[in-house]
Amino acid sequence: MCGIVGYNGHRRAAPILIDSLKRLEYRGYDSSGIAVYDGKAIEVWKEKGKISELEKILPDMPGTIGIGHTRWATHGRPNKVNAHPHTSGGIAVVHNGIIENYQELRDKLVGSGFVFISETDTEVLAHLVNHYYKNDLIDAVISALNEIKGSYAIAVLCGSQLVAARKDSPLVIGIGNEENFIASDIPAILKYTRKVIFLDDLELASVSPDVVTFFNMKKEPIDKTINQIDWNLEAAERSGYEHFMLKEIHEQPRSLHETLAGRISELEGTISFENLNITEAQVTDIPRISIIACGTSYNAGLLGKYLFEHLSGIHVDVEIASEFRYAHSAPGSLVIVISQSGETADTLAALREAKTFGCRSIAITNVMGSTITREVDSSIYMRSGPEIGVAATKTFISQLGVLYLLALYFGKSKGKISSDRMKRLLVSIKQIPAQITLILNDKEQIKKHAEKIAASNDIFFIGRTFNYPIALEGALKLKEISYIHAEGYAAGELKHGPLALISKNTPVIAIATKGLTYDKVVNNIKEVKAREAPVIAIADEKDNEIERYVDGLIRVPSTDEILSPMLSIVVLQLISYYAAKVRNCPIDQPRNLAKSVTVE
Ligand code: M6R
Repeated sequence: MCGIVGYNGHRRAAPILIDSLKRLEYRGYDSSGIAVYDGKAIEVWKEKGKISELEKILPDMPGTIGIGHTRWATHGRPNKVNAHPHTSGGIAVVHNGIIENYQELRDKLVGSGFVFISETDTEVLAHLVNHYYKNDLIDAVISALNEIKGSYAIAVLCGSQLVAARKDSPLVIGIGNEENFIASDIPAILKYTRKVIFLDDLELASVSPDVVTFFNMKKEPIDKTINQIDWNLEAAERSGYEHFMLKEIHEQPRSLHETLAGRISELEGTISFENLNITEAQVTDIPRISIIACGTSYNAGLLGKYLFEHLSGIHVDVEIASEFRYAHSAPGSLVIVISQSGETADTLAALREAKTFGCRSIAITNVMGSTITREVDSSIYMRSGPEIGVAATKTFISQLGVLYLLALYFGKSKGKISSDRMKRLLVSIKQIPAQITLILNDKEQIKKHAEKIAASNDIFFIGRTFNYPIALEGALKLKEISYIHAEGYAAGELKHGPLALISKNTPVIAIATKGLTYDKVVNNIKEVKAREAPVIAIADEKDNEIERYVDGLIRVPSTDEILSPMLSIVVLQLISYYAAKVRNCPIDQPRNLAKSVTVE
């Protein structure tokens, strides 16, 4: 996805813009560019490909104010002409989002004599601002934005004036010392400041070195709150690991520990959340729950369904956010949206749809102040710290951590869990971070298994009940970073179709930890073995039976059946990582994917 940075201060802008853009590389992009005002004119430099290509052509630029962009092509091919910034007269614009009525606006502007050189929707915006510009940049930007349908986060440079605005696409203002910043994501500017102000929809900021002034679309000044970001720069760097993904896999014990910290008392068997505005008494009135999410967050939500239904008896529907918009929400349902970034456009649109039915809403998210957190009734933070690798790993574990706590809280409120079971589960959940560390210590063994299957074209992941969402997540991880075709299946479904694909060339990874459906999964393993598929099982360390049925075995520490998915998934993440490494894939930035998907 595209990234935006902006700077106005006392230092040379170009090196800061380039450094900040590099910190957004993980989001995925195909071209980049910067515009810097040197006191006389705006100089624009852009290049196709990596930021290092742009750096090669950059001259010495003394200006202290500028904007920069990494583009992920939507309208128009990924090339130098379509790269941002786009200019018109003395105006330069960078833009994230999609201008839906761009063709209509483009025709109008062409009719007024404006000449277009790119295929992008953003160029429309540059010409529109220029069209309205009469010495006041804020006025011109407001007039231009009033004509636009769609989503935008923009930074506009005109001489020594720098203006930012947003609607449905994230943007933050970084507050420094005699210098201020604009960024689409916090990691871009973390090196320079940890004080940020989140721009809300239909707000603008005029950014000078000493002061940032905020306006609404009527140009009325508005007050904003400064937020202190508690991540440090190290959290957004690789710290000696070859990839962010590997670092983040290793950060999972810490991430889960932080998610649980201060929220549980295993002695009393109680759970509390800082901002959850739902009392135990209100829980008893919840008729059903809709969980809405995309991708990995959806897989966490699917495990959430099993947990809520098992622990609290409340019926749960899990919806893919991009489909939920077209479904019918039951008024009175509790809606839980899960989004690591808090900015996923599909999830946001589904949340807005659900709210029209009068549903109460909770967000499970990792980004304080993100758009979704500002539109729900309450938010539960995952506290994972920044996740840079496109493949979600530590945030998945923390999403699960929150879901376990919430399901237990609801179960207790509804009187479905005995105090003893509650206390035992809380003791067990607190042990999970240390048990994950044991798995990480054994990663060389997992690596060997991964290397054996890395040359395969197709791999199946199977599991039942609590392990079924883990099979889906294992397959998603593998396909996105190693480009091996992978399918996750409820093990019982194989015989209804996919078994036709099983052969000696299709390895099967079976999540076969002890529990209610263990015997059935063993039968499913026998089914695929009968078709000569090589099988690797993930099983309990105390399981003495399974070894005889499988070709490879990876053991995980013993825990309660419902908690074991948090251990099995770590094994699957490592398998994906090492398989991708053997295949020489760009692990942190898989092709065609972006960390935060802010377009529908
Ligand atoms: O930020 P979100 O949790 O809303 O993102 C949803 C998906 O785009 C995301 O989980 C995606 O599937 C993962 N990056 C895949 O590893």
